[in-house]
Amino acid sequence: MSATIQPTRPTVEPREDQTFHHGTRSDFNAWFFRVFDRYINHIARHHKREAFAGMRAGDIVELGAGVGANFAHLPAGARVLAVEPSRAMHDELVARATDRAVDLTVLGACAEDLPIPDASVDEVICSLVLCTVKDQAAALAEIRRVLRPGGSFRFVEHVAAPAWSPRRWLQHAIRRPWSWLFEGCDLCRDTVASVEEAGFREMQVRRARFRRSLFTPVNSAVYGYGIR
Ligand SMILES: C[S@@+](CC[C@H](N)C(=O)[O-])C[C@H]1O[C@@H](n2cnc3c(N)ncnc32)[C@H](O)[C@@H]1O
Repeated sequence: MSATIQPTRPTVEPREDQTFHHGTRSDFNAWFFRVFDRYINHIARHHKREAFAGMRAGDIVELGAGVGANFAHLPAGARVLAVEPSRAMHDELVARATDRAVDLTVLGACAEDLPIPDASVDEVICSLVLCTVKDQAAALAEIRRVLRPGGSFRFVEHVAAPAWSPRRWLQHAIRRPWSWLFEGCDLCRDTVASVEEAGFREMQVRRARFRRSLFTPVNSAVYGYGIR
């Protein structure tokens, strides 16, 4: 683990070995989330409202913050560390934080190796990120490590559709090209099992589809929280 990073906001702290830019694909993803995040927030509004309700306005880590889709859910006065390895996302993330006066430091790092001290934050949140991290178990272990005792981990994720459903078939059929286009996003993960094995207390996990969504392959959702 590396040294403490003291936030001065908004700013970007890149770890050169952990950030990436896959050329046109990364630029496409930054564009995609800039254009569609209002729509995604709309179809995921109930899930996010429940998972992110009651966050404390202390030190909050957001994993895979993208271009700042979850800023509207952050409590006023929070100090936010946005962990975002894609350099293509950083400019928009900083611009939106500036517009909304979010107290933000961007860490150009990966969820699997957080440059954040043990037991130092109150909340860790993520949306649509555990589908993409290379190693879910390592990311979840890092989340537990950085949370203070009593701190919470809150998530909204898409997962594998129920076995034998047409959506499951579709997910398997397009899994590889989808993962290429969306820089590692795996449509077929059993994220519930990983989260439940991660050792949080008082886990609340709900499954509910994103309703009336155009993005059929990612409509199977899970959301919830657990306490360190
Ligand atoms: C599907 S996007 C979701 C972005 C945002 N959370 C949202 O809900 O719009 C996945 C994000 O996770 C980031 N990401 C990819 N690998 C990661 C990793 N190992 N650790 C943390 N974030 C990662 C991507 O760069 C991207 O910004």
